[in-house]
Amino acid sequence: MSRPLPENLETFYLRTFGCQMNEHDSERIAGLLGGLGLRPVTEPESGDVLVYNTCSIREKADTRLRGHLGEAQRLKREKRGRLVVVAGCLAQSRREDFFAEFPFVDVLVGPQSLHDLPRLIAERLQTGRRTGSFRERTTTWSAQLPRTRRDGPSAWVQIMTGCTNYCTYCIVPYVRGPEASRPLPEILQEVRGLVAEGVREVTLLGQNVNAYGREPGFAGREDFPALLEALSGIAGLVRIRFMTSHPKDVSSRLIRAIAELPPVCEHVHLPVQSGSDRILAAMGRRYDRARYVEVVAQLREAVPGVALTTDIIVGFPSETEADFADTLSLVEEIGFDGAFTFIFSPRRGTKAAALPGRPPREVTEARMAQLVALVQAQAAERNRALLGTVQEILIEGPSKNDPAVSKGRTRTHKTVNVRGAFSPGELVKVRLETATSTSFTGTPAT
Ligand code: 5AD
Ligand code: SF4
Repeated sequence: MSRPLPENLETFYLRTFGCQMNEHDSERIAGLLGGLGLRPVTEPESGDVLVYNTCSIREKADTRLRGHLGEAQRLKREKRGRLVVVAGCLAQSRREDFFAEFPFVDVLVGPQSLHDLPRLIAERLQTGRRTGSFRERTTTWSAQLPRTRRDGPSAWVQIMTGCTNYCTYCIVPYVRGPEASRPLPEILQEVRGLVAEGVREVTLLGQNVNAYGREPGFAGREDFPALLEALSGIAGLVRIRFMTSHPKDVSSRLIRAIAELPPVCEHVHLPVQSGSDRILAAMGRRYDRARYVEVVAQLREAVPGVALTTDIIVGFPSETEADFADTLSLVEEIGFDGAFTFIFSPRRGTKAAALPGRPPREVTEARMAQLVALVQAQAAERNRALLGTVQEILIEGPSKNDPAVSKGRTRTHKTVNVRGAFSPGELVKVRLETATSTSFTGTPAT
């Protein structure tokens, strides 16, 4: 195959920040770069094209990227012709001032424009000018681009993109555009192909999967429960996961789908964000605490043993001790299997960035420490309650530290290290023996 690139460009280094959607986008970036004849390398020093797939959800991501770009600048000086590409949400949100601040960056490409990457690289090489592409909404589903899939029996499948909820703290609607769903036949086709390649578990990705197929102008008629049902009919697909779910869009049909469709796993990631009704309203979440509690009760009743994980923000503008106490009491009341906890980070252009009354840093940090301790204690307790039970584990591969131990997950998404060398993709019945707040050890149950 003839290579469209000059001879001094042979390899690429790709570093991904942020969420699973970004990890998945990186599979497409790797596929596109592979299509240009570039080989992946694991160290930036060996990369001719350095690609950073960025996240802009919190400020910390900016700071981390800055460090990496400093290194990229140094590496670029060391080798003539090296290219630096910044992809993803930060590229999109900072497009106006990015080149001014980082003049050594060659190409910027937003998350809805990944398919433009080969053209942008070619343009940069031909014209010598820095280039970028920042589409507001996607014209090509990333799933239509070539991909280099992560190893193992699990695959990500994008079912929708964007978000139109405009939670007041969140930058996603500004960088990934409005909600748009992918037609069901295309999703089915992709999943069938993955299963034919040996995939046994898919995770359906979208900012708000429950709203699948609901946006005005969607070409199809199916909603999320119908999608789950259609996918459940694919022979050989043993597990279906999905994230993220917005509590306001959990319907009784969805709960029934989780309860009744055998491959759909008993785990829901249901970000609550706060336990205070006042803060939930200020966040623009469109549910209150009572509604969240009700949805969880319905889920638990219909799906025994369902695992629940969540996201929580601490230190939202005007959060008082009483509001925070409401968050702690909600966590106590629900009993989560795990939670991602975040300190509020003002994002440019969002409504909450302009709100007054952010609690002082020490206060927020103290609240965070309290919340994390509670979440961990609760998760550990819930895990301990499973000791002695037998769970079905999908093997992902050998454990990092010991080849005689295999790593896998329960249907409820809990990590288990099981004695024995099993093949990726095997389903093994395992008796759980020890537990921490995040993982288990176990032995095969005979
Ligand atoms: N500050 C802190 N956390 C945020 N999240 C989203 N935006 C912000 C922000 N500005 C969190 C939410 C969301 C998760 C993906 O990130 O909890 O569910
Ligand atoms: Fe952001 Fe809210 Fe959309 Fe989630 S639902 S991506 S938090 S705006």
